[in-house]
Amino acid sequence: SLMEQITRFEEVFTVPAEKLKEVTERFVGELNKGLSKKGGNIPMIPGWVMDFPTGSETGDYLAIDLGGTNLRVVLVKLGGKRDFDTTQSKYKLPDHMRTGSADALFSFIADCLKAFLDEEFPEGVDHALPLGFTFSYPASQDRINEGFLQRWTKGFDIDGVEGKDVVPMLQEQLKKRDIPIDVVALINDTTGTLVASMYTDPETRMGCIFGTGVNGAYYDVCSGVEKLQGRLADDVDPDAPMAINCEYGSFDNELITLPRTKYDILVDKQSPRPGQQSFEKMTSGYYLGELLRLALVDLAGQGLIFSGQDLSKLEKPYVMDTAYPARIEEDPFENLEDTYDIFKNELGVETTNGERKLIRRLAELIGTRASRMSVCGIAAVCKKRGYKTAHIAADGSVFNLYPGFKERAAAGLRDIFDWEVKKNYEDYPIVIVAAEDGSGAGAAIIAALTQKRLAAGK
Ligand code: BG6
Ligand code: GLC
Repeated sequence: SLMEQITRFEEVFTVPAEKLKEVTERFVGELNKGLSKKGGNIPMIPGWVMDFPTGSETGDYLAIDLGGTNLRVVLVKLGGKRDFDTTQSKYKLPDHMRTGSADALFSFIADCLKAFLDEEFPEGVDHALPLGFTFSYPASQDRINEGFLQRWTKGFDIDGVEGKDVVPMLQEQLKKRDIPIDVVALINDTTGTLVASMYTDPETRMGCIFGTGVNGAYYDVCSGVEKLQGRLADDVDPDAPMAINCEYGSFDNELITLPRTKYDILVDKQSPRPGQQSFEKMTSGYYLGELLRLALVDLAGQGLIFSGQDLSKLEKPYVMDTAYPARIEEDPFENLEDTYDIFKNELGVETTNGERKLIRRLAELIGTRASRMSVCGIAAVCKKRGYKTAHIAADGSVFNLYPGFKERAAAGLRDIFDWEVKKNYEDYPIVIVAAEDGSGAGAAIIAALTQKRLAAGK
């Protein structure tokens, strides 16, 4: 029966405190392995941001932000008093670009930048404007203005980019359009979030994204990053900070501790990169709707729901994005009338009251599991660095839009650290706060820090 089915889902999708603790423990070890010379599953990529922002950086910068739902072009004016102003344009990245050609992608980016510049600077652009490029995929760097793509994530699959430096690819398209702007820094969105938030709030200890993907960045010390040995200039202070882009979406690709369901296994199998980003595939926005869809299709296949109906729409992979479980969880009506409309109008499926109850419960389970599990990365970094109190700056569509995410995430951290229950989730010692205005500002601040270093001859 449907009730039995709900109970079965509750069993497999619920992650108790003990499991969260176990995952976190293993996570700490994996972060350390990633920093070692030999390396591990978690890339732990040094980002070559070796200064903390002071909040007094000033100047005008351009930023391109690629890697989430939108491509953003941002003009950032750093005020120098822990303040900044941004002017930005968002461009929806056409879906087919995720799997098109590199040329098409970088042309699109350059065209968007050009459109933005024409709009913002009708009199002509000051070409001295430095540009920071937020490229939110795992990219190896030996210096700040390069980024060799290790592998695509989040459903991207474009030939000819993996293993290569993406900065010249962008630069070439800019040149073709007579935009002689210098890409001074390439950063990850988590690093941008970290630095932008630290610029305004010195208590920031991590930058995290809960969006299309899941990831975090923090500052380590150079001497704590074994794999930097031999890669640093001789005069670098061993205590100097180094921003690390963890890329912890790849946590536990060995599948030792993640509590996967058969739907997680299916998501992975059908993705362009099976075996990769195992943690991300259970927690990030790109996959939550798909998990829900796969579970429903499975039940329908067993004849338990939607009997006799045309499921051709529902059978299309990724037809339900994360907005689906989010809207279903938000349905205020006792009989789930919004959910009825969603299934009827958008998926062509008639639902009974019982089916809608099951769908709602399943959405809750998937959303709750994602928020609880995704804080294991935060807990692990805090444990590793010994942070007892911290502000964790967070951005991304799941953090900002998914109902209940913040409360559930805080409850997850509380379970891991055994904090006593507080009324407001903002009152816990480690608190996830909304980041400052996107990682474009971070790219600008990092560009400013880079210029300062270059000017000092470092
Ligand atoms: C934005 C940041 O606010 O959030 C981006 O500026 C980041 O750098 C994005 O990639 C992540 O959110 P989503 O949900 O679009 O993946
Ligand atoms: C994916 C990317 C990572 C990014 C995250 C959030 O995990 O690999 O670079 O930070 O998504 O956008």
